[in-house]
Amino acid sequence: MEKTFTSFLEIVQQRYSVRSFSSTPVEDDKIKQCLQAAHLAPSACNAQPWKFIVVNDPALKNQLADATSKHIVPMNHFTKQAPVHIVVILEKPNVTSAIGSVIQNKPYTLIDIGIATAHFCLQATALGLGTCIIGWFNEKKVRKLLNIPLLSRPVLIIALGYPDKPEIPPKHRKPFENIFNYNQY
Ligand SMILES: Cc1cc2nc3c(=O)[nH]c(=O)nc-3n(C[C@H](O)[C@H](O)[C@H](O)COP(=O)(O)O)c2cc1C
Repeated sequence: MEKTFTSFLEIVQQRYSVRSFSSTPVEDDKIKQCLQAAHLAPSACNAQPWKFIVVNDPALKNQLADATSKHIVPMNHFTKQAPVHIVVILEKPNVTSAIGSVIQNKPYTLIDIGIATAHFCLQATALGLGTCIIGWFNEKKVRKLLNIPLLSRPVLIIALGYPDKPEIPPKHRKPFENIFNYNQY
């Protein structure tokens, strides 16, 4: 099941949002490796404003999946297939990051969360696992299900599992040449 990658770019190229999962359980040591990758992510003022809740209890995970999908719109109906959900919690940052964020008018903590989530997902790809980052969910329901305290905020959920039919769909991206310039805007 595990693939061999020859470069980091190859891992990046093979990651895609998986929306069809097999029921094969995810080994706990693989979840831990993904968490280790997230643990080592950089963050503004090294604030590390995150906590990851691993939801692998099937009943609780299904309740969480219900909080990500709406019946009236075709949104996130696939999440129940994923055997594990990782809830990414935004924690209070340290004082320097909080002050810096105000002075610089930049949401450092959300940037930090995004980087840590990317670390997690790319490590998952390297282990042959599939992920889909979910930003659309009923925050109130998620809070209640996991007893998340008021000062902490669930901002993302990572649906995690083995892809049902591993096959990389075509990437829809802006033309490569359009996203960068050298030496001027
Ligand atoms: C912050 C964030 C929130 C997202 N929320 C959702 C979501 O709620 N449901 C979903 O199916 N995909 C979600 N995605 C996945 C994106 O749709 C996907 O990454 C994008 O279309 C690029 O496709 P790719 O990941 O397959 O390369 C989210 C991605 C990010 C980074």
